[in-house]
Amino acid sequence: MAFNDLFLRACRSEPVEMTPVWMMRQAGRFLESYRALRKKADFLTMCKTPELAAAATMLPVNEVGVDAAILFSDILIPIEPMGMELQFTPAPLFPDPIRNRAQIDALRVPDPEESVPFVMDAVRLLRKELDGKVPLIGFSGAPFTLATYMVEGGGSKSYIHLKSLMYQEPGLYAALMDKITDTVIRYLNAQIAAGAQAVQVFDTWGGILSPGDYETFDLPYTRRVIEGLNREGVPVIHYVGTGSALLSKIKEAGSDVVGVDWRIDLDEARKILGPGIAVQGNLDPTALFAPIPEIERRVKEILDRVGDAPGHIFNLGHGILPPTPEAHAKAFVDAVHRYSKKSG
Ligand code: CP3
Repeated sequence: MAFNDLFLRACRSEPVEMTPVWMMRQAGRFLESYRALRKKADFLTMCKTPELAAAATMLPVNEVGVDAAILFSDILIPIEPMGMELQFTPAPLFPDPIRNRAQIDALRVPDPEESVPFVMDAVRLLRKELDGKVPLIGFSGAPFTLATYMVEGGGSKSYIHLKSLMYQEPGLYAALMDKITDTVIRYLNAQIAAGAQAVQVFDTWGGILSPGDYETFDLPYTRRVIEGLNREGVPVIHYVGTGSALLSKIKEAGSDVVGVDWRIDLDEARKILGPGIAVQGNLDPTALFAPIPEIERRVKEILDRVGDAPGHIFNLGHGILPPTPEAHAKAFVDAVHRYSKKSG
C-alpha cells in the first residue's frame, strides 16, 4: 500500500494529483459498523479504550475511502481531568458547571500522559495500524468552545452563563481561559509527540460571538494554543463553526489551514484569507440527503470555485449527521476524487 499523503500536501498548500477528502465526525453513527461496535460499550468507555477507539477510527478509512483518519475521541475528554465530572446522555453534560471563582481556582492543568494516557495510546496504536495508509489527525476543542460546555454545563442556545461571565467578570473569564488554554497546549503537544501527523482545533461555537467579542474573548487564546504547538511538519487546521464573518480575524490565529462552513463560498473565503493558507470545506452536511446526482453537482461546483490553486482539503462544513445514508457519504467521497483528478 503506497503512502497516501494527499491530505498533508494539501494542508501545506502544495500541488496534489487529486483533492483529498475526509468528513468531520466521520467515525460515528452514520456508519452501520460504528453502531455495531458501539453496542459493545458506551461512548466514554469507547473513548477510553485504545483498541475500541482505534477500531472506530479505522471504520471510515476502510469503508468510505477517506484520505485522512481522525482519532476517535471527543473534544471534552481533556476537561474531565481538569476536575469536572463528564457524562454523555448522549449529549454531553457537566452536572456541576463552572459558575464562580472557587471552582475556577480548583481547576487543574493536567499532564495528558498521566491523566488521559488512553488518547496517546490510541494514537500510537493507530500509527502502527494505519502504517502510512493515510495520515492521522489529532484534535482538541478550542479554549472558547470548551468554555461554553464547562460554564453552560452542556449545549446551549443563548450562552447566557458564559456571556455573563465574560461581560461581568472579565478577569475571572480570563483566569478560566488561561487554564483551559494551557491544558489544550499540553494535550495537543502530547498527541503530536505520540504521532499525530496533523491537528485540528475545533472552535465549533466561535461563531456565536460578534467580531469584536471574538477578537477580545476567543482569538487571543486560540492564537496562544497555535503558537504553543510543536508544529514542525505537523499542519494545524483551525475550524470555526459559523465563522464566515470572522475570517479576517481567524487568519490572525496563525493556522496552516482554515476550516470553513457552507455559509460562505470558498473562492470568497480564500480572497479574505490570502495566499499561503489552505482551506478545508465546505459542503453543507444536509446536502448528503439530496439525490446522488445532486451531491455530485454540488461537489463539482465547489471544486470549480477553488479552481487549480493548491491548498484545498474537501470536507463538510460541519460534522456528518447520524441519519446520513451511507451510500450518499460514499458517493460524496468518490465524487471529490473523480472530479478533482488532474488529467495528464
Ligand atoms: O470526527 C470524528 O469522527 C472523530 C471523533 C469526534 C467525535 N466528536 C465523536 C463523537 C470528534 C472530532 C468530535 C468533536 C466534538 N465533540 C465537537 C466538535 C465538532 C463538532 O461536531 O462541532 C463537539 C462540539 C463535541 C461535543 C459532543 N460530543 C456533542 C455535541 C456530541 C453529540 C451528542 C448527540 O446527541 O449526538 C458528542 C458525542 C459524540 N462525539 C459522538 C461521537 C461519535 C456520539 C456518541 C455516541 O456514539 O453516542
